[in-house]
Parts: sequence; C-alpha cells; structure tokens
Amino acid sequence: MIQKEIKTSFEEYGSIEELNAEDRELATEAITAMQGAYAPYSHFHVGAAVRISNGQIVRGANQENAAFPSGLCAERTAMFAAGARYPDKEMRSIALVGGVYGRITEQPATPCGACRQVMAQYQTKAGKPMSVIMIGAHKVWKFEKVDDILPLIFDSI
Ligand code: THU
Repeated sequence: MIQKEIKTSFEEYGSIEELNAEDRELATEAITAMQGAYAPYSHFHVGAAVRISNGQIVRGANQENAAFPSGLCAERTAMFAAGARYPDKEMRSIALVGGVYGRITEQPATPCGACRQVMAQYQTKAGKPMSVIMIGAHKVWKFEKVDDILPLIFDSI
C-alpha cells in the first residue's frame, strides 16, 4: 500500500480591490450579475461572471423554479450561456458571489459540486487552466485552476 496525498492551494485577498485589474473587473461583473437572480424560494441571490478567451465577460445568476430540480445555479447559467453563445471560445476564469437578498456573505461563496464538475469539463475542453474566484464581503479566494477545488474529475467517457 502507498499512502498518497492531494494538496490544494489558493490565494486570499482582503477585498476585490486587491485583485489584479482583470480579476477585479470580473468580480465586479459577478456582483452586478446578482441583480439577475430569481430566487423566490431561497432568497439567496448568486451572481457569476465568466471571462472567455476574447476578453468578453458573460454573466449569469441563479434561477429557481417551483419544480425545484428545474432551477439552475448562477455558475452554470453563466457557463452554459458562454458555451452556447461563444462555442469556439475558451472559458478562462469564473467569479461568483452570493448573499441573502443580495447582501454579500461574509465568507466567500463556494460553488456546488455540480457546478465544479461543469467548470472542470469546460477547462478540459479549453486545455488551459480556468481560475475560480470566490467573493465574500471581506475575503476573496482565488484558485488558479478547477483541479484545486475538484481533484479527480470524472472525464472517463
Ligand atoms: N446556488 C448557486 O447559484 N450556486 C451555487 O454554487 C450554490 C447554490 C443557488 C441555487 C439556489 O437558487 C440557491 O443558491 C440556494 O441554494
């Protein structure tokens, strides 16, 4: 038997103001995207913004539905929109932020497992790392690649 280990690392910032200009712009777009949330059940508004390879930013927000499984997270709304509208572009970075009635959480919002899997596959499609920025009121986390938040991605088919 060999004991193995998976390690992860990320950067922590005090606010989006400390990010580089590109990431700050993406984070600001994610915060703006919260306004598009439709969350009549959870009242938790999530915004996401994806940077694609031509520099454009595609926004998304969570959309809920009375038939609960029919809704969709902000991150997948943004990524599927980017994938559908710009199929020949790569997704380079994604930022996300959430909060009850749009009041940003203290701790950075962390993406659900299904969104991580979708991020991982678009990263594989691009063949380049996709960074993930998680925004909280007084704390921001940046992961350089999706592997850092989802090791051992399912990509066997
Ligand atoms: N939500 C997201 O938009 N992204 C996540 O990564 C986790 C959860 C949404 C789904 C639902 O509309 C609300 O937040 C509460 O779970």
